[in-house]
Amino acid sequence: MVPMPENEINRQRFVTRRDKKGEPFIIGRGGPDDYERLLDMYSGFSPRPAAQGLPPSDPEKCSKWVGEILKTGKNFLALREARAIGHAALIPDPWEDACEYLIFVHQSSRNRGIGTALTDLAVREAREKGCRSIWLCVETKNVNAIKLYEKFGFIFCDMDACERKMALDLMRL
Ligand SMILES: CC(C)(COP(=O)(O)OP(=O)(O)OC[C@H]1O[C@@H](n2cnc3c(N)ncnc32)[C@H](O)[C@@H]1OP(=O)(O)O)[C@@H](O)C(=O)NCCC(=O)NCCS
Repeated sequence: MVPMPENEINRQRFVTRRDKKGEPFIIGRGGPDDYERLLDMYSGFSPRPAAQGLPPSDPEKCSKWVGEILKTGKNFLALREARAIGHAALIPDPWEDACEYLIFVHQSSRNRGIGTALTDLAVREAREKGCRSIWLCVETKNVNAIKLYEKFGFIFCDMDACERKMALDLMRL
């Protein structure tokens, strides 16, 4: 991965946290200026795709996907030494006052609480902005992701053989 200069980061948007190993990382809202940083994380992401065809394995499709998600979603980033180690996004669904949620943590930083910190931030932001619910699709075999979502109160709605829909009702909590 190519490191990004420290001064590219607007640190005022971020807060410092420690992961389960006690190592610091910063977390906050991302935006269009994070395009290169996110592309850098996803170009070295493994497995690729990790879930529902994302992040796309084709570099061109991956750059397009990153550009689109930065434009249409509310993005949240976890950074260590100016590199992205985790990314989550809420994609607003204007018809239902709901948001779709997605999250990816780089393989070098999994199982250390980064996904929990990103999800906590995204759920708080969604609630503050008046979103009524957050939903997502997860593969039934993705046990770690399901455990993460259950920790925040997501419950299963629909299911088929290999994918389940989960939702968090923000009006109920
Ligand atoms: C799913 C994913 C986002 C979780 O991120 P993470 O930073 O590893 O998650 P955390 O370390 O915060 O762990 C969250 C919870 O998941 C569960 N978990 C995570 N890793 C686990 C493991 N190796 N074994 C058992 N449970 C695990 C635990 O319940 C944990 O909560 P706890 O720490 O309170 O016990 C990450 O594994 C990932 O990016 N996977 C590939 C992409 C993906 O599948 N995205 C989701 C698409 S639906």
